[in-house]
Amino acid sequence: MNKFDMEKNEDNYCKNLAIKIFDDIADLTKDNQGVTRESYGKGEDKAIKYLENLANDLGLFIEVDECANVIFSINENKNSSYILVGSHMDSVPRGGNFDGLAGVVAGFVILAEIKHKNIKSNFPIKVIALRAEESAWFGPSFIGSKAIFGLLTKKDLSSMHRDKNLSLKEAMLSCGANVEKVQSSKIFLNKDKIKAFVELHIEQGPILIDKKWPAAIVTGIRGNIRYRKISCLGTAGHSGTIPRWLRKDSVFASTELISRMDDHWKTIEQHGGDLVLTSGIFHTDNLHHAMSRIPGELFFSFEARSQDPSTLLALEGLLKSECKTIEKERGVKFKFDDLIKSAPAELDKNIIDKLLKSAEKFGLNEAILPSGAGHDAAIFSDQGVPTGMIFVRNDNGSHNPEETMEIKDFIVGVSILKDFIKNF
Ligand code: GLV
Ligand code: MN
Ligand code: MN
Repeated sequence: MNKFDMEKNEDNYCKNLAIKIFDDIADLTKDNQGVTRESYGKGEDKAIKYLENLANDLGLFIEVDECANVIFSINENKNSSYILVGSHMDSVPRGGNFDGLAGVVAGFVILAEIKHKNIKSNFPIKVIALRAEESAWFGPSFIGSKAIFGLLTKKDLSSMHRDKNLSLKEAMLSCGANVEKVQSSKIFLNKDKIKAFVELHIEQGPILIDKKWPAAIVTGIRGNIRYRKISCLGTAGHSGTIPRWLRKDSVFASTELISRMDDHWKTIEQHGGDLVLTSGIFHTDNLHHAMSRIPGELFFSFEARSQDPSTLLALEGLLKSECKTIEKERGVKFKFDDLIKSAPAELDKNIIDKLLKSAEKFGLNEAILPSGAGHDAAIFSDQGVPTGMIFVRNDNGSHNPEETMEIKDFIVGVSILKDFIKNF
C-alpha cells in the first residue's frame, strides 16, 4: 500500500485522512449493494488489515489482543492510564460504511495527527478496532467487547453463522483469537487503566437531522431482548378444502401474535414507557410454500428494545402469554430458541458533562439524547469503565446500503472528541 500522501493544508489533516480511510475501506469491502464486513470474517478482516498497514506507514504502535481486536497507540507505554476511543469494524450484510467504522476512524485520525504533529497530550489515548458488534451474523451482539471482559459463554461461542456451517468459535479461531482463553473467561484488558472509553458513532436515526444538530452527546443506551428464531408450527393443507374452524395456519397465527404485541407496544408508549418492537425476519419455507397451500410452518425473529429493564422483562412475559392464547385459539405451537439479552446502559455522568462542555464550544448547548441502537459502549459501561458516546448526524438511517454521513458533521464529532481529550 502507498504511504498516505500527506495533505499540504495541515489543518485538514484529520479530515483528509478520514476521507481516504472511509473511501478505501468502502472500496475494499463493497458488496453488490453497500458494504459487507462479516463478523470474524472476510470483510472485517480486510478492513482491519488495511488499518494495520496504514498505522504501520504512519509509525503508530499496533497491538492485537487475544480476541483478535486491534489497539493502536503512539507507543507501547504499558504502565500509564489512558483514554480509550473506538468502535466496531464489522457491518451487517449489505450495510452502510459508517456504522462502527466512524468511531474507529475518529480515534485513528486523532492519533495519527498527534503522531504527525508531535502534539503533547496530557493523557495518552489508545484506539480500539473491535470485532463483531453486529448480531446479524451469529446472533449475540458486542462479541468483540464481551470477549475482552471474559463475558462470552460456551453457548455464545457455539452460535452458528447465519448461513454457513461455521460456529462463532471456529470463526474467531480463523481470525487468530485464542479461543481457549476466551472460553475460560479470561479478562484481556486491565480496566483500571482505562480512565474513559468514548465511542463516536453515527446516530442511525432521524433525531439529529430533525434538531439540526451535526453531533450530540449520548445519555444512555437501550437494552434489548431477542429471539433469533421462533417457529410457529401449524398443519399444512389444501387451501380450498379446509374450513376456518379446522385450520392450523402458521401465518395467520404469527401475524395475529405480532398484531397483539403491537397493541401492547401502543399501550406502553401511551403510558410514557420507552419501547420499540421489530420482527426483522419473517418467512415460510420456500421449498414448501405455495399460493394454494395452508402454511404449516413459519419462522420469525422478535426483538424488543427499551431503556427500562422492567419493560423488557414485562415484554418477555407478554409475548409468552399471547403465544399461549393463540396456540389454544388457532391450534398451532410456538417454539422458541434461546433468548438473547442485552441490558440497558446508563453512561457516566462525569464523562457526559465533560463531553457536553466540549460540545458547547461548537454551539451544541443542549444536544443530548439517548441511543436507540445498541453499542459496544454498553459493555464497557457495564464493566465499570467510565464511558461516554458522541453521536454524529447521518441520513437514510442505518443497517442499509443507503446510510450516509457528511464529513463535515463527522469532523464536528471528531473536534468534540479532540477537545474532550485535550481537557481531560
Ligand atoms: C447494533 O447494531 C444494534 O443492533 O443495535
Ligand atoms: Mn449496527
Ligand atoms: Mn454500530
